[in-house]
Amino acid sequence: MKSLSFFASLAAFVADVFRVVALPSGLTSTDQSITSSCQCTAGNIPVALDVDLPLDPTDDPINSTNTRNLRATFGIHTIFCQPPHTATRSSQDHVQLLLHGSTYTSQYWTWPFNGFQNYSYVAHACAEGHITVAYDALGVGLSDRPSNSADIQLPSAAAIAAFFSHHLKSGELTTSLGLPTQRFKRVIAIGHSQGSVVYNYASIFQGSKTPFDALILTGHLHDPGFLESTKFGRPAARDVDPGRWANLDPGYISSSNRTQYYPPDNSTFSADIVKLDQLTKDVSTVYYTDAAFAVYVPAKGFKGPVVQLVGSEDQVHCLNGGDGFVSCNAKVLQASEEAFWPDSKNFTMVVRQGQGHDVNLDFGAAETFSLLTELVEQFTH
Ligand SMILES: *[C@@H]1O[C@H](CO)[C@@H](O)[C@H](O)[C@H]1NC(C)=O
Ligand SMILES: *[C@@H]1O[C@H](CO)[C@@H](O)[C@H](O)[C@H]1NC(C)=O
Ligand SMILES: *[C@@H]1O[C@H](CO)[C@@H](O)[C@H](O)[C@H]1NC(C)=O
Ligand SMILES: *[C@@H]1O[C@H](CO)[C@@H](O)[C@H](O)[C@H]1NC(C)=O
Ligand SMILES: *[C@@H]1O[C@H](CO)[C@@H](O)[C@H](O)[C@H]1NC(C)=O
Repeated sequence: MKSLSFFASLAAFVADVFRVVALPSGLTSTDQSITSSCQCTAGNIPVALDVDLPLDPTDDPINSTNTRNLRATFGIHTIFCQPPHTATRSSQDHVQLLLHGSTYTSQYWTWPFNGFQNYSYVAHACAEGHITVAYDALGVGLSDRPSNSADIQLPSAAAIAAFFSHHLKSGELTTSLGLPTQRFKRVIAIGHSQGSVVYNYASIFQGSKTPFDALILTGHLHDPGFLESTKFGRPAARDVDPGRWANLDPGYISSSNRTQYYPPDNSTFSADIVKLDQLTKDVSTVYYTDAAFAVYVPAKGFKGPVVQLVGSEDQVHCLNGGDGFVSCNAKVLQASEEAFWPDSKNFTMVVRQGQGHDVNLDFGAAETFSLLTELVEQFTH
């Protein structure tokens, strides 16, 4: 019974996502309901990039001088969700910009399990009255995939995140989706893992001009063990699933199994979730991790509040043996991590006991979701 409803819900979601209609502007869009009380609109937003990328992607992108200019427009698949009562307001106080991790898509935030009841942060936020925007990173999900994987590096990813923030504030994001114009005063950037690294990079690169007003970085620490493990590389996507990815250059990576994203104790998560995760996994590029060291410096000038949140059983960070195990004790991490946010008006480290790397996908998810919306409310009052 359980797996029947699980596959039925996957099928319904996939059917929804691919029921794409053409808009006059050349955009594509599909209306889908996450729950009956949440209004979601999805579409492909053209994002024009004009960004300098290191010619050697293992250079520090912050100060590399050996660069090439990437000037191109890519379609970025976006899903905008709001509770019905905000839909008529042209000016909104805030919006949450959600960016998923490596080998995931925006579906990380709208996990299609059990009618979106259990693991969809978007559905939770919407029920609590919050507006969210999630997008598929360049090269994954329904976003365009550049033929050259090296177009996807921290600077291009950060430029896309900045584009979203600026266009949410100017009102252009909602109009691009065919909705009435809504201007947002503040953008709360919520990332997971690689998505958190992208926001962290943007904050270092732009300092006081960072286009986000507050950051919540889940699955993210500046631990030496993580950096150490990035040196072992990850399997090329074309080797992981030749059926889907045979044509991708070897800079595109994926993962062979999802074990490390869950706690070691298999009674703390659902086996169905891991199955769905394995079925819907996507790609990333090796260049994010090649340059991950670039975010191990203080984000000078970023003044907004910052929260970093990890699970104590996170096998990518806390239980990563590369550094002889960083102690994921909230007090210890508060002291070591706040050095990376010297100008933040309030840096807070949160450790969720018993949770793994994917804090949205284990049995602790519901409590994490409540905490996230509480934090957003604190930031905006
Ligand atoms: C780039 O800056 C980092 C500090 O952010 C420094 O450690 C590194 O040496 C610099 N690299 C070059 C090539 O200047
Ligand atoms: C999903 O949520 C429902 C309603 O809150 C709950 O009864 C059920 O136990 C949850 N299932 C899982 C697998 O977490
Ligand atoms: C899953 O991948 C990890 C490496 O990330 C590996 O150590 C482990 O043996 C794999 N597990 C299975 C069941 O394939
Ligand atoms: C959990 O792991 C144990 C030991 O590896 C195994 O015997 C058991 O079948 C697993 N349970 C589930 C639900 O996967
Ligand atoms: C800092 O932020 C945390 C989390 O939002 C909050 O609980 C705490 O009260 C804040 N501290 C100050 C001094 O504002």
